[in-house]
Amino acid sequence: MKSKVQRKKLQSMQRWILVLALLVLVLLIPARALAGPPSPLIPASEGAAEIAKLFYLVLAMALVVFVLVEGLLVYAIFRYRRREDGDEQPEQIHGNATLEIMWTIVPAIIMAVLFVLTLRTLQAMRNAPRDSYQIAVEGHQWFWIFRYGDTGVTTQNVLHLPADRPVEFTITSKDVIHSFWVPQLGGKMDAIPGHVNTTWFVPDKPGTYAGECAEFCGLQHYAMLFDVVVEPQDTFDAWIFHEIELSKQTICPGEEPCKNVPDVATVPEGNAANGQALYDSKGCKSCHSLDGSPLVGPTFRGFSQRAAGRTLGESAQQYVAHSILRPCDFLAPGFPNCVMPQTFGSTLHAQELSDLIAFLMQQ
Ligand code: CUA
Repeated sequence: MKSKVQRKKLQSMQRWILVLALLVLVLLIPARALAGPPSPLIPASEGAAEIAKLFYLVLAMALVVFVLVEGLLVYAIFRYRRREDGDEQPEQIHGNATLEIMWTIVPAIIMAVLFVLTLRTLQAMRNAPRDSYQIAVEGHQWFWIFRYGDTGVTTQNVLHLPADRPVEFTITSKDVIHSFWVPQLGGKMDAIPGHVNTTWFVPDKPGTYAGECAEFCGLQHYAMLFDVVVEPQDTFDAWIFHEIELSKQTICPGEEPCKNVPDVATVPEGNAANGQALYDSKGCKSCHSLDGSPLVGPTFRGFSQRAAGRTLGESAQQYVAHSILRPCDFLAPGFPNCVMPQTFGSTLHAQELSDLIAFLMQQ
C-alpha cells in the first residue's frame, strides 16, 4: 500500500520536472535569437543603444515583479496546501485596503516612469540633426529602393551609409504598408503609401548589417531583406562618386521611366549567364518566377514565346527592352495594375540590358 503511494509521488515529480524542462526550453528560444546579430540587443548606433537600454530596464523591472509575484504564489501553494490528514478549511480573508492601494500605486508609478523614458527616446529619434545625410526609402512588394540625397543614385536591397554621421531617412511605400527596420541600427518606421515618415540614426561601427521589413505585407514579406553597408566616410564618398559616374552612363540617366527606348539592334551582344546574375541581383526575381509560379508579376517561364507576339511591329527583343524600361506601357493578362518600378532605365547600362534580354529569350 505504502509503495503505491510512493510510486505515485515519484510519477508526479517526474511530470513536474518534464514541464519545467520544457518551460526552460521555450524560454531559451527567444534568448538564443537575441544573443547574436541581427539582434537589437547588439546595437551599432547610439539610438539603437538607447532602445536596448530601455529594453534592459523594462526587463529588470519585469523580473523583480515576476520573482515577487511567482515567489509569493509558489509559497502560498506549498505553505497552505491541503495536508493528507485533516481537510479543515484555512482561515478565509476578504480584502486588504493597504495591499490593494499598494498594488495600484506601485504599477502606476512604474508605468509613468516607463512612459516618460519611452517618450524621451521616441522624441530624440524623431528630430534629426540639421546636417544629416538624406536618404529616401521606398518600400515595394517586395523589395526596397534607396535614393541618396540629390545625387540621382539609387540602389535596390542594398543600403550604403557613411559611418559616424547622422543619416535621416524619409520613408514611404508604393503599394501597401511596410516597415523599415535595421535591428542593430534603429529604424522600425512604417512605410505608408501616400505618406512620408522620418527617422534617423548615426551608425557608429563600419560593417554589414541585416535589414528587414517588420510589417506583414503579403506572401513574400519574409523575403524583403536588405543589407546595410556602413563604411568610413572616405570609402562611402568614393563609392557614391563611382555610382554617380556609372549612373551617367545608364541608358536614360535620371528618367523614370525612360523617354525613349533604344533600338535593340544598336545595343551590344548580350550574355545570358550575366543576365541571370542581374535577374538575381536587380530584384527581378522577387516578382517574376522562372518556374511558372505567379508572384507579384507574371512568371518568366515560356516568356520568349509570349514575347514574340505581344506587340505589333516590335520584335521579341524590342518588346523585352520596352517592358523593362517603360514597364507601365503594357499590362500582362491577369495583372491589372502596373507596380513594376520604372527606375531601370536609370540603373541599367546598355550591356546589362542586352544581358537581361539574352537571359529572358532563353526562358
Ligand atoms: Cu514589406 Cu513586409
